Parts: sequence; C-alpha cells; structure tokens
Amino acid sequence: DLNPAVLLRQTILGMSRNDQLRDVIEKAPVSRDVVRRFVGGVTNQEVLGVASELVDTHRLVTIDYLGEDTVDPAMATHTRDSYVTLLDALSEAGMTQGGTVEVSLKLSALGQALGKDGNAIALENARVICQAAANAGTTVTLDMEDHTTTDKTLSVLRDLRQDWPWVGAVLQSYLYRTEQDCRDLAHEGSRVRLCKGTYKEPESVAFQSKADVDLSYVRCLRILMEGQGYPMIASHDPRLVEIATVLAEKAQRGADSFEYQMLLGIRPEEQLRLAASGARMRVYVPYGEEWYGYLMRRMAERPANLAFFLRGLATK
Ligand code: FDA
Repeated sequence: DLNPAVLLRQTILGMSRNDQLRDVIEKAPVSRDVVRRFVGGVTNQEVLGVASELVDTHRLVTIDYLGEDTVDPAMATHTRDSYVTLLDALSEAGMTQGGTVEVSLKLSALGQALGKDGNAIALENARVICQAAANAGTTVTLDMEDHTTTDKTLSVLRDLRQDWPWVGAVLQSYLYRTEQDCRDLAHEGSRVRLCKGTYKEPESVAFQSKADVDLSYVRCLRILMEGQGYPMIASHDPRLVEIATVLAEKAQRGADSFEYQMLLGIRPEEQLRLAASGARMRVYVPYGEEWYGYLMRRMAERPANLAFFLRGLATK
C-alpha cells in the first residue's frame, strides 16, 4: 500500500517496536515535558498531581496503568498491585468519592494471555482491583482490546458485575457485532464507554472505512442513549460529540446521566468547554513506566501529534 498516510502510520508503529529509539527518546532530558502532554507521568505521585489538576478544572478522571500484553505472571501481579496502591493513594487524597477519579484496566495486562488459565487469572486480579475501588468509593472500567478478546472480556465483565454492578465496559463501533452488544448492555446501571476502536482489525469482523465506523458509532450511540444505562461517549470527533449532545436531549437525559470522555492532551480546550457547559467530562490518563508504546500509538493515529513531539525534542 503506497498511500502516504498508511506508510507514515506503519513507520511510526515500527518506531514503537524499536528498542534503540525507545532508549534515545526515554533518556533525552527534553522528553519528559513533551511526553507529559499525553502521559500522566511515571510514578503514582506524578499521576496524582495530574489528576488533581484535572479535578480542579471540573473534569473527572479515569487512570490507566500502562502495561499491556503481559505473558509473565509476575508482571500481571505487579500491575494488579500498582492499581491497588494507586487507588489507596487516591482515596487518601480524597479524590475517589462518587467516582470523581476511577481506573481503567486492560485484562491483557492482568494476565488474560497467560495460556488456558489466562482469563481466570485476569479475573482474579481484576477482582482484587474492584475490591480496592469499592473501598475507595469509586468505579472500574474494562478497556476493550482486539476482537479475539471481546467475548472473554465481556464474560469477565458479567462475572465482576455480579459483585460490583458498577464495573463499566468499552465497546468499539468498528466491530460489526457492537450494535448487538450495545443492545445487550443498555440496561439500568450499565456503564458503557463507546469508542471507535484502535486496533487493526480484518474486514471479516470490522468496518474498514472511517465513514462506516462513524455511522456505526451513531447507531450504537442512539441505542445507548435511548436505553436505561449510563453512556460514556469516548471520542474527540466534533461531529460525534455534537450528535451525542442532540441524542441526549432527544432522550431527555439529564446532564448527570451520561458523560463525555477524551484522552489526556487531546482537545483540552474542548474538554474545558464541555465541562463549563455543565456536562460531565472525563479525561483518560495513562501513566507508568510503559508509556512509550502508548505514545507511539497516539502518534500513529494522528501524525500532527508527531510534529508536535519532534518539535519539542528539537527545540528544548
Ligand atoms: P478520530 O481519530 O476518527 O478523529 C476524528 C476527529 O476528531 C478528527 O478529525 C479531529 O477533528 C478530532 N481529533 C482527533 N484527534 C485529535 C487531536 N489529537 N487533536 C485535535 N483534534 C483531534 N480504543 C479501544 O480500542 N479500546 C479502548 O478501550 C479504548 N478506550 C478509550 C478511552 C477513551 C476515553 C478514549 C477517548 C478513547 C479510547 N479508545 C479506545 C481509542 C479510540 O478507539 C480511538 O482510537 C480514538 O479515540 C480516536 O478516535 P476518535 O473518536 O477520537 O476519532
């Protein structure tokens, strides 16, 4: 494929797997400032500071400890414990009550890919984190990964919800199956984050064109808004944000019965505008030692971000 946008995306994704480049970028003294736009720091203390700034500016927060795809049980345990320590610290800082700051989890980081017992291990680790969240008075949302994990993740979700009905799910509008998943999950008390989807998926399971993914997003959004659950609109797309606002009005939803969500550092003025309009606006804040892969995926999604990043490297 000689489409320049596709080539650039592939180059950046290649960079994300290049350990030498990773070393250079991580060690460059400048990187810290530049990385900070999209990543909420490396340590608990740093991410607490970032979350506190967001809360002070009337935004809600969900924090993701970066550590995808582990095939090492010790790493999965480390990720679990990091979440528990983080939730305790957030609770002590008074930031969790009522779900002001919650956490997002990737089951692959909790051991889902560890052979035949992987799903059970991830479920057990997620249980520990949900209990810590319950103690802190906040919620947990399960991120959604590639389509081979969708059924497994929804089954973990069902298990967790038996004890903690506030556990949220993510659905991706690029998958053909998602309209039906939205119908299944549009019931009372069900928190569903709708996003477009970020993995490279085959035509057999997913829409390929932006137009089709966007149309599917609107169909899914309509189902969620007209349902009894709590829709979370995770998109930076101005058209979809506007459509969500109209659909919420049509469904006569109050401002506290749904929320908008965006990633840290992306459209911050729009985040503030939505928050000032009285809407609930939540910012997804990734943090931890494994920030490099996350950052490179964001760059691949939108090369304009790469220009920003490289400018920072060159001029600081
Ligand atoms: P898209 O990338 O199509 O952009 C549409 C428009 O938005 C652009 O034309 C532009 O106007 C505006 N825009 C986008 N990026 C911008 C930028 N950097 N600066 C300015 N304007 C910009 N995915 C997944 O597979 N599983 C998951 O669990 C999650 N979780 C998740 C949580 C949250 C809170 C968010 C916001 C996103 C996710 N995602 C995700 C990622 C999601 O699937 C998707 O890849 C990105 O959000 C990008 O899609 P958009 O809807 O923003 O639109």
